Amino acid sequence: MIYDAIILGAGGAGLFAAAEAGKAGARVLVLDHADRPGNKILISGGGRCNFTNTGIEPGCFLSKNPHFPKSALKRYTQWDFLALVERHRIAWHEKTLGQLFCDGSARQIVDMLTAECAAGGVDFEYRTAIGEIGHGPGGFRVGQHQAANLVIATGGPSIPKLGATGIAYDIARRFGHRVVEPRPALVPLTLGKEERLFAEISGVACPVTARVDGASFTEAVLFTHKGLSGPAILQVSSYWRPGTPVTLELVPQAAGKLRDARRRMPKAGLKAALSELLPNRLADALASRIGLEKKLGDASDAELEAAAGHLDALTLSPSGTEGYAKAEVTVGGIDTDGLSSKTMESKRVPGLYAIGEAVDVTGWLGGYNFQWAWSSGWAAGQAI
Ligand code: FDA
Repeated sequence: MIYDAIILGAGGAGLFAAAEAGKAGARVLVLDHADRPGNKILISGGGRCNFTNTGIEPGCFLSKNPHFPKSALKRYTQWDFLALVERHRIAWHEKTLGQLFCDGSARQIVDMLTAECAAGGVDFEYRTAIGEIGHGPGGFRVGQHQAANLVIATGGPSIPKLGATGIAYDIARRFGHRVVEPRPALVPLTLGKEERLFAEISGVACPVTARVDGASFTEAVLFTHKGLSGPAILQVSSYWRPGTPVTLELVPQAAGKLRDARRRMPKAGLKAALSELLPNRLADALASRIGLEKKLGDASDAELEAAAGHLDALTLSPSGTEGYAKAEVTVGGIDTDGLSSKTMESKRVPGLYAIGEAVDVTGWLGGYNFQWAWSSGWAAGQAI
């Protein structure tokens, strides 16, 4: 069949672009190898979909070109998406840090997007592998179908068991686009054998400021049997590269707090002082790591300073990440140099578009990645 646009991928970005283009009068086909739309939406936000964030701004996105997301995020904002959610009478609430979730279920977001697609007369073909893509004067050919426009919306390789693949990069390269090296992001970090101490406290969580390479996030850290997780770690993982240390501020101004403990309880050991500041099992693990055996009253200022360094700037060297199997998103992707920031259209191949996670734009944890899917999908949908 002949369409105006073929959209590869029925995730958030593809559905949104399809609905917008369809409602504007374009004949649109969405292809996906999954058997239903929006698999990632359905499991997102613990089943309630953290669909956007009130604090969306370009600084919350990683990209080789940090200016690239500005235009799309400004033209279709979090407030526009929230208005759509309200038009569909989906009840929502704000959790923490501006994160907006459905009161009911993530399925409501998928139903909303498919209803919008139905309003635009969009066709779907599921269980369809994307084979050879032809390109000639008539536009693009995918299987039996032809269209003047082709939208790459197949996301990144995070969570292969949900059907995620890196096919977006192959298609982009086939049309002469560059790809910024993809890496797993919003992903737990692993610690090597020398940090086994922390594996023993698997399950312990506490508030922290985590820092990597200039980026810092104040949220919870979770110690796991493989290493570190929790929102603060997922956030810094997007900035982490092999060999880079991660610094955890577990106790701000720790030296002052330890001196105060020495004054109040000179006969106690370090473990007792740490137990006042941190969960017990973490206090035990840190006390063994620090190895200050004497009573607090016998410890010098220098010894307390040295101990404090493990509390306000605990430096760990992750051995790696838990990889694409556990990564919520992929950092990197189709190089934005080759795309229009206004329409997401290729500068090299007229009629070719790339949107969503496939592109080298990655948001923070907390609804930022879906907003990028909506905003970039909207931009392409309007342009088709
Ligand atoms: P997405 O990956 O959603 O869609 C791509 C589509 O292409 C899929 O339907 C896939 O089947 C299809 N496809 C891929 N390869 C194909 C091939 N070779 N042939 C045919 N079809 C193919 N973000 C957020 O903002 N808030 C949140 O609460 C969460 N929560 C969350 C939880 C979990 C567990 C994960 C893994 C991720 C999140 N995210 C999130 C991130 C968010 O899900 C992600 O950024 C968007 O879904 C990206 O949307 P896209 O449409 O770009 O890709």
